[in-house]
Amino acid sequence: MTKKIGVFVAWPYANGMLHLGHIAGAYLTADIFARYHRLIGNDVLMVSGSDSHGTPVTVTADQEGKTPRQVFEESHALFLEAWQKLGISFDLFTHTDTENHWAIAQDFFARLLQKGFIYTATENQLYCENDARFLPDRFIGGECPYCHFPRARGDQCDNCGHVLDATQLINPQCKLARPGETHRLVVRASEHFYLDLPKFEKRLLDYLKDKDAYWKPNVLTFVRNWLERGLHGRAITRDLDWGIALPLPGYAGKCIYVWFEAVIGYYSASVEWAKNRGIPDKWKEWWTKDDNVRSYYFVGKDNIPFHTIIWPAMLLGYDENLPLPYDVPANEFLNLEGRKFSKSENWAVWINDYLQAYDADPLRYLLSVNMPEFADTEFTWREFVRRNNDDLIANWGNLANRVLSFTYKNFDGRVPTPGDLTETDRALLAQSAAALANVGNALDRVRFREAIGHAIELARQANVYLQVTEPWKTIKTDRARAATALFVALRVIDDLKVMFYPFLPFASNELHRQLGYEGDLVGTITCETFHETTRSHTVAMYQPGKHTQKWAPSQLPPGQSLREPKALFKKLDEKIADIERAKLGKPRG
Ligand code: MF3
Ligand code: ZN
Repeated sequence: MTKKIGVFVAWPYANGMLHLGHIAGAYLTADIFARYHRLIGNDVLMVSGSDSHGTPVTVTADQEGKTPRQVFEESHALFLEAWQKLGISFDLFTHTDTENHWAIAQDFFARLLQKGFIYTATENQLYCENDARFLPDRFIGGECPYCHFPRARGDQCDNCGHVLDATQLINPQCKLARPGETHRLVVRASEHFYLDLPKFEKRLLDYLKDKDAYWKPNVLTFVRNWLERGLHGRAITRDLDWGIALPLPGYAGKCIYVWFEAVIGYYSASVEWAKNRGIPDKWKEWWTKDDNVRSYYFVGKDNIPFHTIIWPAMLLGYDENLPLPYDVPANEFLNLEGRKFSKSENWAVWINDYLQAYDADPLRYLLSVNMPEFADTEFTWREFVRRNNDDLIANWGNLANRVLSFTYKNFDGRVPTPGDLTETDRALLAQSAAALANVGNALDRVRFREAIGHAIELARQANVYLQVTEPWKTIKTDRARAATALFVALRVIDDLKVMFYPFLPFASNELHRQLGYEGDLVGTITCETFHETTRSHTVAMYQPGKHTQKWAPSQLPPGQSLREPKALFKKLDEKIADIERAKLGKPRG
């Protein structure tokens, strides 16, 4: 039975370009998963968008002398470009500053308030008299009351690790002050709205009960620790004007906390997708509690609590019939050349820069075999070049290219007709069928490295098969035998095309064409602009390719005309590693 698979992906803060760490953390994983499910015939809805509000955006705006809107719009455009070139196949990539999202986020807030899941309380906060505003935690620095570290932040001390309340800081400073200025901070009471998490405790424990069986250990540990510390109310409003207004009169200057509204984006983007497509009720198929509906949330590890506790609580409070996250396969972090990615030091490989210079598939490959699924992993340029040349080309690309070129030349550009299959032939075909099943099985369990590992291993076995059967030699002595070996190899290559497709969609699409099939495996990602009453916005939308490919052992028919073979991947010069490495930590440009 066709399943409805929700592929929900973390909404990136629209405060600059994304780097490889973000891609490895959530976007690539989600895309692999979505492509796999589409190919096995499930109905996939993959949505996300730019997280346009929040202090990360306002901080960047202040630093760059721009408005928050400018920063968010520029970043959004860069994201759209990256998804197109990298092939991240969002059915919809929108943003949180649409009328649709505002209305739905405000409705969540209003309904949770009306149902008694939101309460108000008044708290003391630091107010800057020079800037005439309450300061978000990140804008405050000062001395830690525990270890007396002089540069603690408003929310935590990086020296001793204590979580802080900004009012606890000794001698707090406003970070908006320019050098030489001193801003006067005072403590002022401010009324805020709180999500009453303790009210959901029992239902959350219930929901999490069966998750031990299949959630990733890193995610489970996180959730358990949080529950053990006990649930407390969480402030879901902020004294800021860049954000979504409260749906209540009398609260000018306050907005809904970015985290509370951004997660609602999964729901609002589903609604928007259906509207954009002209099938306005279709989204409901992914937002109904049913055994055939599964929602997966692909997020980085810093996002785990919001997706495993807070968002489920919000859904429970909003409508009992909404499906809760089935899985939250969060990744760990990717490091870069021995260090953490750092925007301020420009210790980063920015995805738009990468895509300007190189193809998508080699990066998708390296990040797949090196995915930080269970522990942090590392990107190095040296490994990027090596894996491209030694793995991708020498193991997989050359296998496909050698067999296709040789067949094309010697069998009149057609798939040869096989004779009787030998033991060796049958063994390889059986391995191929098993690998296809294993890749699928691993992807069903959201295990990416394991999945691609089965495909890589099969390519290796196929290379061994060619060394043993040597069709380039037997063609001179026993043409029928050569035809059979090439036929077997072509079928296995056809299987590998399918197995690699979620990871390397561009190469598999090209190979699909060379094998003589009609229709495209990859679809196209287009940008479209939609007009609302007061706003318009540009989004990315995926249009699936037209083809009849299934996730099943190859039926490549003898006699099918091949198209002219060409290499699937480009060899990379070793020097690239040193050149790219040397750019890290220097100003971009
Ligand atoms: N913008 C936030 C981040 O990048 C939150 C993303 S997930 C969301 O960490 F669902 F809340 F949007
Ligand atoms: Zn401290």
